[in-house]
Amino acid sequence: MKDQNTLRHKLSKLAPASKTLDLSPENRKVLAGLAINYAERFYDTLESKEAYNPFDESVNDLLNSSLGENGISADEAISFLEHKIISPGLNSASGRNFGYIPGSSLSAAAIGDYLAAVTNRYASVYSSSPGAVVLEARLVHWMADLVGYPAGSGGYLASGGSIANFTAVVTARDDAGLKGEDYSRAVVYLTGQTHHCVDRALNLSGLRECIRRYVPMDPSFRMMPEALNRQIIEDADNGLIPWLIVASAGSTDSGAVDPLVDIGSVAQTHNLWFHVDAAYGGFFMLTSEGKKKLAGIELSDSVVLDPHKSLFLPYGTGALLVKDVAKLVSSHAYHASYMKHASDEPGIFSPADISPELTKHFRALRMWLPLTLLGLKAFRAALEEKLLLANYLWVEFSRMDDIEVSPPPQLSIFMFRWIPEGGDPEILNRQLHDALLKDGRVFLSTTEADGKFYFRVAVLSSATHLEEAEILVQTVKDKITEISRKPG
Ligand SMILES: Cc1ncc(COP(=O)(O)O)c(C=O)c1O
Repeated sequence: MKDQNTLRHKLSKLAPASKTLDLSPENRKVLAGLAINYAERFYDTLESKEAYNPFDESVNDLLNSSLGENGISADEAISFLEHKIISPGLNSASGRNFGYIPGSSLSAAAIGDYLAAVTNRYASVYSSSPGAVVLEARLVHWMADLVGYPAGSGGYLASGGSIANFTAVVTARDDAGLKGEDYSRAVVYLTGQTHHCVDRALNLSGLRECIRRYVPMDPSFRMMPEALNRQIIEDADNGLIPWLIVASAGSTDSGAVDPLVDIGSVAQTHNLWFHVDAAYGGFFMLTSEGKKKLAGIELSDSVVLDPHKSLFLPYGTGALLVKDVAKLVSSHAYHASYMKHASDEPGIFSPADISPELTKHFRALRMWLPLTLLGLKAFRAALEEKLLLANYLWVEFSRMDDIEVSPPPQLSIFMFRWIPEGGDPEILNRQLHDALLKDGRVFLSTTEADGKFYFRVAVLSSATHLEEAEILVQTVKDKITEISRKPG
């Protein structure tokens, strides 16, 4: 009894400080007000702010920023966030960001995310949060329909393309029944354009020693199916184990879409797992042009799509679809006595049963809210616009003096390099890149093709429209003129 009293005393002493974790309604309103003001400022100035803010090592002072016993004011926190954390570097949501695979900042998705964090539903298990799980299943079915998968397919919302590709590789490995002793003879077919996360997925899934065959590509960086077929036959004749083909539906570097119909047919002939990495290109299936370009995607056994790329959602939203969901289930089967109640409704799989994650973010909300609020029409129009903008830009760059362009964009990416009359193009293109970074109005990332420096133009931000495309062309022209005028 005495012990209980001591405990009660201690508990009542701790409660006031513990309760400060939950902001009072007044403080909550103050913080939310400041956050909303900042968010509005962010959106309002997106059009005028730099796409890139050069930074120096002072940003590393964050390592020593205060995390003391006592908190700081809401004002201080939001101001610190705005100026010290968000500002330096790439403004990925800018419409003048043409680098890597550009991001976006859909307000409806952000508000969905806010509500996901507020309500914190356990989106992993049906019996805990059937609404969240069924919502994710609904979105998975929608994506499966989009790529032309039949009933019996399934998948889940991942944190991004890398993890989704990893899960695909693991599922394909298990389906082929590969054991450790087979790994050094197992052969994967890909190209030099395949995203590096596939290579990493092979390593992480235990297959570091497997054989990677980089299948030759045509001049537009697309896998050549005849070469693929020949290589598979040769490998099988030599006692190797052809096992997995990875095609790209929009490669990161050049935007190349491999010929999926022909590759699918090769995969069927040899009974290999056919995986399509459509992390970047997948949602162009919403447009009639994209549908034509990605024809054959339905022949695959698995496909990765990244809603945080071509569906304009916040980072941290990928998806894996598998044609036969039973294979995904089989790779992720687990036993945990404390999770016995987690069983599913027929036809609905808890994400925890078909993915590597247990506790997960309620990702479906940030995807569902914009889709349901804005309707598919808005997304279709935006994607069509990005395809056309990339074509428009390709023509503008091909018309410029001393600019060499890659073949026309297959989706919304192409490459170019400056070939000045005098001087070393490698040095001058790097100078041009530095000048663009310093200027900050537009952001372009770079790559190498045939050992040469290239700029990549990737059009995918929801905020990129004709005005932004014109600023890109003008800024590149201005910087070329400036560099050309400099003596030496
Ligand atoms: C084609 C492709 N696959 C996979 C990935 C990796 O996806 P994530 O960055 O979402 O992990 C990317 C990223 O740019 C990509 O473009």
